[in-house]
Amino acid sequence: MSEGMSEGMSDGVSIDDVLAELRALRESDLPTHGGRTLAYVYDSGLAEVGELGQRAHALASSANGLDPTAFPSLLRMENDLVATAARLLGGDERTVGSVTSGGTESCMLAVLAAREGAKQRTSTPNIVLPSTAHAAFRKAAHLFGLRAVHVAVDEKTFRADPAAMAAAIDDDTVLVVASAPSYAHGVVDPIPEIAAEAARRGVRMHVDACIGGWVLPYLRRLGDEVPPFDLAVEGVTSLSVDLHKYAYCPKGASVLLHADAQLRGGHYFASADWPGYTMLNTTLQSTRSGGPLAAAWAVVRYLGDDGYLRLARDTRAAMERIKTGIADIEGLRVLGSPNATLLAVTSEDGADFDLFTVADKMARRGWYVQPQFGHGSSPVNLHLTITAANHGDEDGFLTDLADAVAAAREAGPVVVAEEMRTLIAALDPDTLTAEQFEGLLRAAGLDVAGGLPDRMAQVNALLEAAPARLRERVLLEFLGLLYRPHRG
Ligand SMILES: Cc1ncc(COP(=O)(O)O)c(C=O)c1O
Repeated sequence: MSEGMSEGMSDGVSIDDVLAELRALRESDLPTHGGRTLAYVYDSGLAEVGELGQRAHALASSANGLDPTAFPSLLRMENDLVATAARLLGGDERTVGSVTSGGTESCMLAVLAAREGAKQRTSTPNIVLPSTAHAAFRKAAHLFGLRAVHVAVDEKTFRADPAAMAAAIDDDTVLVVASAPSYAHGVVDPIPEIAAEAARRGVRMHVDACIGGWVLPYLRRLGDEVPPFDLAVEGVTSLSVDLHKYAYCPKGASVLLHADAQLRGGHYFASADWPGYTMLNTTLQSTRSGGPLAAAWAVVRYLGDDGYLRLARDTRAAMERIKTGIADIEGLRVLGSPNATLLAVTSEDGADFDLFTVADKMARRGWYVQPQFGHGSSPVNLHLTITAANHGDEDGFLTDLADAVAAAREAGPVVVAEEMRTLIAALDPDTLTAEQFEGLLRAAGLDVAGGLPDRMAQVNALLEAAPARLRERVLLEFLGLLYRPHRG
């Protein structure tokens, strides 16, 4: 936070100064272009795509999607985007949809619509989902009062187990979920089998194609064997696909498709029972900036089918090269057999280096790779989201990765002291006191006042030793410390 702001509202500053300040603030961020940040961001590698998105965003950011009759341009652009997504993803003339702010909102709306659609049938609804489904569904269950029934996936392939999913469906199930692909391992679940069972039981089925939906159809056209996953599959009733991922649009845009209009009704909301305007919402937001929608519309129009095919070709080439290169680095291996453009890289059993340290060493070399904690049969690993921008610099990445592994080997293992493990094991996340939190944060090296440590391996090793629920509590506490305006 700038000094002026932290002292309360300051006198105005010149445009040049404000922008200089903003640029300076942004310098501490991870780079969003150039392919060196392998999570959070998606880079087409085409400078004009970024520029077009920004200009289109600016043209419509003051328009309000709250009232499509007042801003018909936004209505038109939303219908265009939904139609394009439906054509790409197996929809037909009955397919409808909504543009939302992102993947989490799309997934949440699918859950909400399913709950509302089954209101007459159950007052204790649940959703059945593979343990690898995105955490957005846990959030939806949490906020909308449903029970999330997590079903273990295949231990080796990390794909959902259709028989186990079928066994988990009961009279209160309102939605079955599967991923195309999952974020953590990049594998596509067996959608046809799961959808067929859902249909047989009269339950809705959502395909979370948030991350893969805009690239899988193109990989298929390029000759990859992509398993059936879209709305053309019998029994699939909704599908989410994020424009701000592999459609390379600026952040804040996703599409939720429904097989027909009746399925969508449950996430529409109206309130006329107050003295103001009748509030009519298609999504969780009410006022909706036209910026992300217009930016997405412009980028999708500009790139077109041929543009996305070219980008998918580049991404696929980068993915193949990086995947093969990783197999050649002693001690590393890829988890499962990814179907899309995401990789989870783990260490071979008995490897003599620490993966969290590899992430630190990569950061030193200017690459961000995302540590993923162990979960079920999935060991600690490093997540890589490969984009078109990685094409051309695959060998640069692989050389640095091999060096980072060698450096991690030299640094030796990261050890969590036995007394620390005992302390963690004794903590109950539900009754932790502020003092215990503080002690744990300090021990984990998450001392906000002193700034974040530049090496995260020790912190991650400690967090890995904590059960997921404790990790959630500790990190939420940490988040609370971060979001304090007057930290001094
Ligand atoms: C499969 C999947 N679903 C949902 C989401 C959530 O998307 P967002 O971060 O846009 O809310 C993601 C994000 O990576 C994802 O990979």
